[in-house]
Amino acid sequence: TSVNGTHCGFKVLVGTLVHSTREDPMVILTDKALGVLHSKIKFVAEADQLEELQTQYGFPDSAVTRLSNRQFVMPGLIDTHIHASQFPNNGLKMDLPLLEWLQKYTFPTEATFADVKFASHVYPRVVDRTLRNGTTTASYFATAHLEATKILANAVATRGQRALVGKVNMLHNCPPNYREDSVEQSIQETEQFITYVNNMKNPLVSAIVTPRFAPTCTDDQLTELGQLAAQHSTHIQTHMSETRPEVAWVKELFPHRTNYCDVYHQAGLLTRKTILAHCIWLSEEELELMSRMEVGVSHCPSSNLNLISGLCDVRKLLHHGIKVSLGTDCSGGNSASILDSLRRALHVSRCLTIHDSDQHPDPLTLREAFRLATLGGAQVVDMEDRIGNLEVGKEFDALVIDTQATGSPLDIFDKDKEPDLVEKFLYNGDDRNIVQVFVAGRCVVQNSE
Ligand code: GUN
Ligand code: FE
Repeated sequence: TSVNGTHCGFKVLVGTLVHSTREDPMVILTDKALGVLHSKIKFVAEADQLEELQTQYGFPDSAVTRLSNRQFVMPGLIDTHIHASQFPNNGLKMDLPLLEWLQKYTFPTEATFADVKFASHVYPRVVDRTLRNGTTTASYFATAHLEATKILANAVATRGQRALVGKVNMLHNCPPNYREDSVEQSIQETEQFITYVNNMKNPLVSAIVTPRFAPTCTDDQLTELGQLAAQHSTHIQTHMSETRPEVAWVKELFPHRTNYCDVYHQAGLLTRKTILAHCIWLSEEELELMSRMEVGVSHCPSSNLNLISGLCDVRKLLHHGIKVSLGTDCSGGNSASILDSLRRALHVSRCLTIHDSDQHPDPLTLREAFRLATLGGAQVVDMEDRIGNLEVGKEFDALVIDTQATGSPLDIFDKDKEPDLVEKFLYNGDDRNIVQVFVAGRCVVQNSE
């Protein structure tokens, strides 16, 4: 019934479902039947109603898959910040702070994507890796190169991942062999990329306007990019307030702006489809502005620890009503797995509490971190109406988890009930436990024997 890479008509999964809602960060539903027709969730009902459902919807027995009591279905993971172009450095070169790290390692690596052959070698592997790790939606930074960025869009489309893909905009404060030539060229090529992706007519893939960060962009450029995004109704992604030296530099470069966030705001770059990565060193005014403009944050704890950037106070962001999600930020982050980001988010939150338990009395819970990785991601990419959990009417972006998969690192004991299995998977599981990955109802990874 589950033919790899094809739509399977009606598909019905019977077993345990785990997801988040607005009201409850983790809901565990046992003995359910979840029906998918084409790309969408058609019904969620009690498993003992299967016969009536079968009569009502007319699906064959062969459409039904019964999960074992060691398996469950959860929403796909959403990575709201990842640099596909930095995978050649993945797990390498973490010995410098951000601004020096960019100049010495990251820009030279990204510069090599001027070679489309290299891009064609790297990008399909990146997408395979993120998909295998359960990332059903990713927001990618490519490089400043138009042609290589098209290759990433193609790799994503071919593999069936849901993605936002951005050609990076960077004009100065970067090497002469790796920068755009002018504001005109920057805008023109970005528009060409948007048109290219629109012409792919793939409902899962969109272009995202991607000014790298304020220091590599000029005011004019940022403003024109804001206009371009508005014209084409695209998403926007960038970095903000990742390190203290970066914040100080932005203050120097944009003395006429109130703060870092205001640089983006005055350029029209803060919308409900804007993803701001990091957001560690923020003032109260910036938090209020972000909340008012309904921008989303991509929390990238692994990267923030590796580059000694800072400890992001996610609780504070949530208290301000700001949408928060998780990003791997490869290769500032060393893991391509959002499960790793989830664990690191819990660690960072605990570090804050260790450091000052009066200021940080309530560290993130595992259940909240699960929501950041799924529904929070859907909110940040402004697709909560379509993805993020297992409610009827949503697109079926989901993972089948097998806690006893071959070679699995999980020790399962007979007495373990569903909440334990979910908790163990989130803390100790890995891609071996992700036996199937669905995007829009299509099985794009099949790991089970
Ligand atoms: N700020 C500007 N560019 C980058 C980047 O590539 N990685 C990270 N972590 N921060 C950035
Ligand atoms: Fe980044």
